[in-house]
Amino acid sequence: MGGAFNNHNVEKLGITLNMRSPKGKELLRKLIGICDVLTENFSAGVVARWGFPYEEMAKINPSIIYVSNSGFGHTGPYSKFKTWGPTVQAVSGLTFLSGLADMPPAGWGYSYMDHSGAYFMCLAILMALYHRDMTGQGQWVDLGCTEAAIPLCGPSLLDYTVNGRRARRPGQPHSNRNDSPAMAPHGIYRCMSEDRWVAIAVRNERDWQAFCDVLGHCEWLDDPCLATLDARMANQDELDFVIEAWTSERDPYEIMEALQQRGIPAAAVQTPEERIEYDPNTQAWGLYLEVEHPEMGRVRVDGIPAKFSAMPAHIRRGAPLLGQHNDYVYGDLLGLSAAKISALREEGVI
Ligand SMILES: CC(C)(COP(=O)(O)OP(=O)(O)OC[C@H]1O[C@@H](n2cnc3c(N)ncnc32)[C@H](O)[C@@H]1OP(=O)(O)O)[C@@H](O)C(=O)NCCC(=O)NCCS
Repeated sequence: MGGAFNNHNVEKLGITLNMRSPKGKELLRKLIGICDVLTENFSAGVVARWGFPYEEMAKINPSIIYVSNSGFGHTGPYSKFKTWGPTVQAVSGLTFLSGLADMPPAGWGYSYMDHSGAYFMCLAILMALYHRDMTGQGQWVDLGCTEAAIPLCGPSLLDYTVNGRRARRPGQPHSNRNDSPAMAPHGIYRCMSEDRWVAIAVRNERDWQAFCDVLGHCEWLDDPCLATLDARMANQDELDFVIEAWTSERDPYEIMEALQQRGIPAAAVQTPEERIEYDPNTQAWGLYLEVEHPEMGRVRVDGIPAKFSAMPAHIRRGAPLLGQHNDYVYGDLLGLSAAKISALREEGVI
């Protein structure tokens, strides 16, 4: 019944399987025999302790792809550590990058790395399937979701390795301004009415000229404090001040429309409610659709943000209940009789 569980497991089948019983292990052997891929997200070593290290799985099914996705993977001195969202983000460097200028790191309050780890796992599965299709060979993929988070910290890692600069130095991170790459104006600006904002990125001279025209300030083009990128970078506080005098008298969508019409990247800073309920692009993409859940009824879940011309995707079914598909998986797929399934159920194996 959990919202996140339901969102992440749409269209999957759900079984139960007691791995502490010998009969449960026998059923897992059978499942491995008919599967392409087995993935798990326990702490390192759990599945091997059940008696199913990759070598054992490969004896049952040589082409099986086994992906273990744990906090630090099975390799290295941290492999035995238990991990949880804030702890993996702390080690990865992501926590350190968060917060407002001149304040301690704030952390993210959300487990981004559960998701980046899952994306990497998905890529790993696809690469291993490709290898299997070419060679017939299965393999074990050892994935550490902390290690997979490097791209989330990318620019800061580069800033250190290339420029030798620390991430939290005076003035960094800047709360509302983006100093990299060198563009100005490039930030978030206050709009008319309470807590309304617009994001603007003026990328080059062409954008700058159009920007001054839209704002009705063509004299800025000849102002030595603003005319060149170097000058604008050097005078960003003053620049942002005069821009905000214009944005704070307008609605963010009006600004977005006016600047986008001239090819300047600009967007209203939307609330989640606007994004989900009112954004016409969200509607056009069919995101946040409703699916049928056996106990919750009609519930909203994330849609698929990619469209395939040769295989239109549909999401109709919500996440499964625990064991909802035991009869189908053990009966139709593994060929167990109804009597056998019912006995397994009574014995607590499934
Ligand atoms: C999330 C996490 C910290 C939870 O730790 P945990 O509750 O101690 O669980 P573990 O994964 O270590 O172990 C699972 C236990 O359940 C048991 N278990 C799981 N499924 C079972 C099943 N179907 N039948 C019988 N036992 C089962 C396992 O045998 C194991 O117990 P054991 O160590 O006594 O054998 C850990 O799973 C983990 O580090 N996962 C990877 C990283 C991750 O995703 N972290 C969360 C980020 S927010």
